[in-house]
Amino acid sequence: MKSAEIRQKFLNYFAARDHEIMPSSSLVPANDPTLLFTNAGMVQFKDVFLGDEKRERVRATSSQRCVRAGGKHNDLENVGYTARHHTFFEMLGNFSFGDYFKRGAIQFAWEFLTEELGLQADRLWVTVYQDDDEAADIWLNEIKVDPARFSRLGEKDNFWAMGDTGPCGPCSEIFYDHGPDVAGGPPGSPDEDGDRYIEIWNLVFMQFERKADGSMTPLPKPSVDTGAGLERIAAVLQQVHSNYEIDLFVELISDIAQITGTTDLQNNSLRVIADHIRSCAFLGVDGVTPSNEGRGYVLRRIIRRAVRHGYRLGVKEVFFYKVVASLARVMGEAYPELLERQTYVEKMLNEEEQQFARTLENGMTILEKAIKELSGTVIAGETVFKLYDTYGFPVDLTADIAREHNLTLDMSGFEAAMEIQRDQARAASNFSVVEKLDLEGLEKTVFTGYSSLQTEAQIVAIFSPANEKLDIVPANGEVLLVLDTTTFYAESGGQIGDSGWLESGDARFEISDTQKQSEIFIHRGRLTSGHLRIGDSVRALVAGNKRSAITLNHSATHLMNAALRSVLGDHVLQKGSLVEADRLRFDFPMVPLCLLKKFGASKSR
Ligand code: SER
Repeated sequence: MKSAEIRQKFLNYFAARDHEIMPSSSLVPANDPTLLFTNAGMVQFKDVFLGDEKRERVRATSSQRCVRAGGKHNDLENVGYTARHHTFFEMLGNFSFGDYFKRGAIQFAWEFLTEELGLQADRLWVTVYQDDDEAADIWLNEIKVDPARFSRLGEKDNFWAMGDTGPCGPCSEIFYDHGPDVAGGPPGSPDEDGDRYIEIWNLVFMQFERKADGSMTPLPKPSVDTGAGLERIAAVLQQVHSNYEIDLFVELISDIAQITGTTDLQNNSLRVIADHIRSCAFLGVDGVTPSNEGRGYVLRRIIRRAVRHGYRLGVKEVFFYKVVASLARVMGEAYPELLERQTYVEKMLNEEEQQFARTLENGMTILEKAIKELSGTVIAGETVFKLYDTYGFPVDLTADIAREHNLTLDMSGFEAAMEIQRDQARAASNFSVVEKLDLEGLEKTVFTGYSSLQTEAQIVAIFSPANEKLDIVPANGEVLLVLDTTTFYAESGGQIGDSGWLESGDARFEISDTQKQSEIFIHRGRLTSGHLRIGDSVRALVAGNKRSAITLNHSATHLMNAALRSVLGDHVLQKGSLVEADRLRFDFPMVPLCLLKKFGASKSR
């Protein structure tokens, strides 16, 4: 039976039993800051369970797109290592809002599995929460499940909570036994993590609300929230032992093999990419964009993981975005929003991959060399730090690659190196650059900033906050750059140094200040994207608005000087000034000129 058919059969079964068919909600939960992503079908009904929202119909059913890649429910690390985990999957669910409870939920689930789908009862295994005698009684005495395929388990397995707060309750899970050819033991046994016994349906008896302080209060009405993984049920009905072999994945994986030039269809990286394109594309559809925090950061992590698996397959060009078209063919009918936003999602993924490509290549070269030269099984914290700090190579990617080689990371060494870097950065924020740098051998900078605000230039020196000479601009933290030519005005005579940025291909370096030492201009700033190294050609651009404001304030000091002298007399001599973009200060002594001359005051700009 095709996945689309199973999806429809499920919805029809429950619709015929008074359930309202609800469309899948967005992967970004509406107005719920406690949750990163929609991780279950019940999320759109959270307020109904809590009694904060009333619905006319007391039964609902849905096929919900879910992402479990961050927060309480996170399967990202498992993808590629098991036959059943995904970052993105579809959850079929039926819900009762104060209507039927344990008996109804159990009867529906059993009837649907054994009669509608025709699964053999002796391939199913049932668990309940350890103290839940009511559910145990229904399963054993009414449904007549074989006690040999029944177990009571603790909170870890049989008490479901949406997040750290929110609705929760004991649950009862139904497992399918894929047979002795597959490794793994029944639920609750030491080998339960194998792929033989697969949980296919979870019936949650929603009874409590968990508050932020950990306390639990009863919900207004006992309710039901169930969730059955579409991909897992499809694997059972299509008689395959891995979700990655069902119809939804077969076409996708074969297209990815073609795009990446891979002949071995069993290659694990194909599966990882197939999983990741589903979460990345649907997160894009739902408005998440790659960034350095929150949901955007999780998306960025998944994209980078997929791109790395492409690299593992030997792909040298940007490829991940090309898989969107294949996904649209496979899932566009069920999710028309994917077709509507296909072009946008392709563009987003393409840009992110391009930005990451050089980071990946540089980082992989360093990491592969470190792994080759390694004696023992732990990658040094210094190496992990250098990859992260200098090359912008994400630590979780290093960990993922280490895991593939059965290696681990020295995370305390990494933390120690991070701490040293933080100390240096703290020290750097107070230091006066012009007094400390060793600029020997550098030519004086050509300054063209009076006639233009931008110029082509070359990086001739890079210094760390600790004044060490560097070859590469690190991916993180502040550095000082010297260019052969600049349009950036360096702080002098009370006028602050220019800010702006450098560009070179996809690299961007934000400049927050410019100083000078012996006619050599020093630009302070940080890399915000791409890569830069000594010798690179860049375009230097002064922030024009800010410079204009500074110029206006500079002119204003001259006007003020003239005005004060004409009103108060010639004794008004400028003693100093501060000229910034949003303010100026003009210092002058209120004493006659003859006295000033006597005490040797000199005129300043
Ligand atoms: N909310 C429960 C789960 O995610 C049942 O859908 O397992």
